[in-house]
Amino acid sequence: MAKERWSSKLGIIMAVAGSAIGLGNFLRFPVQAAKHGGGAFLIPYFIALLLLGIPLMWIEWTIGRFGGGFGHSTSPGIFQTLCNKNRFIKYFGVIGIFAPLVIFIYYVYIESWLLGYSFFALTGLYNSCTTEEAMTLFLRGYQGLARNNFFSSLRPAYFFFLVTFALNLLILYQGVQRGIERVCKYAMPVLFFLGIILLVRVFTLGTPNPQFPENSIYNGLGFLWNPDWSALRSGRVWLAAAGQIFFTLSCGIGIILTYASYLRREDDVVLSGLSAVATNEVAEVILGGSIVIPAAFAFFGPAGLARIAQGGSFNLGFVTMPLVLQRLGFGQAFGFIWFGLLFLAGITSSISLAQPAIAFLEDEFNLGRRRTLALFAAVTFLLTNAVIFFMGRGVLDEMDFWGGTFCLVLFATIETILFAWVFGIDRAWTEMHAGSDITLPRFYRFIIKYVTPAFLLAILGFWLVQEGMPVIRLHGVPAGNVPYVTATRVLLLLIFAGLAWLVKKSWDRRLKAGAEEEGRRI
Ligand code: PFF
Repeated sequence: MAKERWSSKLGIIMAVAGSAIGLGNFLRFPVQAAKHGGGAFLIPYFIALLLLGIPLMWIEWTIGRFGGGFGHSTSPGIFQTLCNKNRFIKYFGVIGIFAPLVIFIYYVYIESWLLGYSFFALTGLYNSCTTEEAMTLFLRGYQGLARNNFFSSLRPAYFFFLVTFALNLLILYQGVQRGIERVCKYAMPVLFFLGIILLVRVFTLGTPNPQFPENSIYNGLGFLWNPDWSALRSGRVWLAAAGQIFFTLSCGIGIILTYASYLRREDDVVLSGLSAVATNEVAEVILGGSIVIPAAFAFFGPAGLARIAQGGSFNLGFVTMPLVLQRLGFGQAFGFIWFGLLFLAGITSSISLAQPAIAFLEDEFNLGRRRTLALFAAVTFLLTNAVIFFMGRGVLDEMDFWGGTFCLVLFATIETILFAWVFGIDRAWTEMHAGSDITLPRFYRFIIKYVTPAFLLAILGFWLVQEGMPVIRLHGVPAGNVPYVTATRVLLLLIFAGLAWLVKKSWDRRLKAGAEEEGRRI
């Protein structure tokens, strides 16, 4: 089967930007920034962008295109082409299919809430919820965690989940060029357009509550942008900033690598990778940061913002923002724009999360699109149901911890060392610049070889001690949730083992096919 290709440079940039721009930009970023002191967060954030995010983006684009040249689209095969001597290398690549798959399982459910809420905003269903308590109860009712006047069962949530899941499959069924590329090319400009409408509205709010003149949009922006250098001494802030960079750029996980495998060797990666990063950063810092933070600051003040941030991303997206938007004229329309924007951001990310698993089955087992999708749908559907029905039991958080945090840092560290040290920085640098529209300053060679891996190892070690170990030891998990969390862990382990077994099988097949070919020639 001929390998799929992007139809244009703009197409892949939009697809990578589509993957990167997601709920992380509009919900996770503002919460992280507010939690870690606004201006105090942005300095480590930008340093992590320069020393981790951008180099990782280039690394993934380069090795993806390189491995694609050998007919591979996923990390097991791509890692193996980087180091042919060691047969074990491909098993590290299992993480690059496993982690996106795990994130997909819960991400697609959250995405479906956005579709539901777009509908509720437009029809004014939650209009009567004017306090935080009422809006929280509305959300809990929707999630099946409480009964209220609006929802007596999980049926509405399940309906929107089915629609969202089917939409994802439909796009994926069309393939890379006709599905992913086409959707992202339309969705991204629409998303920016909606974001700008919200931004203008928020910026023209001034001081919405005259009793508290200091709670203004202007001071909200100051909270985010006035730097606080003292925070650089806090390890936690660095960890949070680096984590946000990985998550928002979708890098260090095997997705960009798969997208880049559909490039030709003469296609540029350096400038295109940078353009995708720039697009994501505009969406994150300018749109994500300047809509949500100043709006919440103006309505709830600095103390309110801090409390909201402690409540997490869901609280901000599904409780605070609808309350804020409701208080504006044309609140229903603005609510619809907000949730519509988030849904577009979500779907262009979830299709990217699914692609490595699909590409793996298609490439390595020649399963064909229809059978591949049927298999993918069966497995993910079953697992998302566990997330839906055991919502309050810590299943989602557990998946987020392993898929969305631990594997990200681990995979990023492995691929950087493979690229800069095993493949070798000289070959790496040449490969990166093949077909390139720009030449990078040489100090980036030094950064990729020494600074990025050292930074990653430090983050990995520090994170394991600070945050990893307590979670691994089930610290703070309510006793009632322990069986569910443990079952999730066992399930994840089985998925990982299953994928590793599939990798082994596919290589055995390859070897056998190679030997038969050899035999025929003799
Ligand atoms: N980058 C996306 C976001 O910011 O929401 C989400 C995401 C996609 C995270 C893919 C990780 C990933 F591998």
